[in-house]
Amino acid sequence: MSEKPEKTKKLSTEPYKGVRDFYPVDMAIQNYIFDTWKKTAESFGYEEYGASVLEPANLYKAKSGDEIVNEQTYTFIDRGEREVTLRPEMTPTLARMVAAKKRELVFPLRWYSIPNLFRYEQPQRGRVREHWQLNVDLFGIDGISADVEIISLASQVMKDFGATESDFLIKISSREWLDKWLEWLALELGDDLKTQTNKEHLFKLLDIKDKDPERFAAGLKKIRSDLTPNLVLGKEIDWDAIEKNLNVKTKSLTSKLKAAGINNAIIDLTSVIRGFDYYTGIVFEIYDTDPKNRRALFGGGRYDDLTSLFGGDRIPAVGFGMGDVTIRDFLETRGLLPKTKAPADYYICVMGQEEAAFAEKIAKNLRDNGSRVAVDFTYKKIGDQIKSADKRGILNVIVIGPEEAKNGKVKVKNLKSGEEKAL
Ligand code: HAM
Repeated sequence: MSEKPEKTKKLSTEPYKGVRDFYPVDMAIQNYIFDTWKKTAESFGYEEYGASVLEPANLYKAKSGDEIVNEQTYTFIDRGEREVTLRPEMTPTLARMVAAKKRELVFPLRWYSIPNLFRYEQPQRGRVREHWQLNVDLFGIDGISADVEIISLASQVMKDFGATESDFLIKISSREWLDKWLEWLALELGDDLKTQTNKEHLFKLLDIKDKDPERFAAGLKKIRSDLTPNLVLGKEIDWDAIEKNLNVKTKSLTSKLKAAGINNAIIDLTSVIRGFDYYTGIVFEIYDTDPKNRRALFGGGRYDDLTSLFGGDRIPAVGFGMGDVTIRDFLETRGLLPKTKAPADYYICVMGQEEAAFAEKIAKNLRDNGSRVAVDFTYKKIGDQIKSADKRGILNVIVIGPEEAKNGKVKVKNLKSGEEKAL
């Protein structure tokens, strides 16, 4: 039973832990981020889709990864005894939607969405319990060109936000390459590293090696007492050995990205692991080059088998998710956020109630001509009303008193230049 708040106790003004309120200044930033996301995605020919935040819980159990499902989902039983989850990510929903209509849809699909997602995480810088995420996904293309397009789009979003290539780094790895690397490592350090359990441990540890080097070292010791970070990572990676028998060549990916005008992408095999079990090919993450910000800004990868969970053929897919929290932090620290726009083009100051109808008429005329107009009906001193316009950053002020109402002539004052003009 839910407890009723005591009548005498005041309710808290704090939002629920880990979620955010969006005051108008925040909303203006949010809208700027969403507008930029949409513009970039649409410039590559991507179409927008959407879905409900509620999903059956079993959608995530098959392939999302243990940490997300067991520790991070908001799951509850509804009134009809169904287990329901507030979606923690969009990819399973997207795979479900594509699988449901695969006969009608025209492939390749280029789709994007900006869903609100919920994860029960420990709130900290860059991590909250509710965030919005641009999802860009390309379905139906097996080849490396699709990987290049998705990484190019990810890079273009950053550039459209005003970032230059020196501000961010694209780190690329691949599940296939990681498997080959492990084979090579096992050749050097012993076959027991290749067992499924050791492989999973090793990959999970790699995921934390930069964030938590001590836990990384301790974890390696647990796999085998003689394993040290130096032994595992210290050797120059033998790319030729790793690339043998692979269709996707690492060098060809970086050179194709260069040809697409991307010069800040590097192959970093053991740095980009990503937490989801559904990735099958390349995985990538974008990092801030400022060493103070060590967390990935966003990431994605190829997942060619997810639609087969719903029966039928596999459909190759590649995409990424970019969160609003990390990009906002990045834009703020880099001074890349544009100045917020004033809420109106004109502010009409009204001396008294008698002039209110005339003020409204002027406002309507201006609005009919496409301007944004706010009318101050406080009837405070005109000086105070002008201050109020100034505080909101509104540039043009119109003062309406008995004189203006009588002869119908109105002047506009530009608060910045002080200039006055007849309207
Ligand atoms: P992800 O790495 O879990 O991938 O999330 C992508 C991005 O969403 C993160 O890099 C971060 O920007 C943001 N994000 C994730 N969790 C939080 C959080 N708790 N608070 C704030 N921001 C967060 C995915 O979700 C994949 N489904 C992406 C994908 C799409 N892969 C292929 N297509």
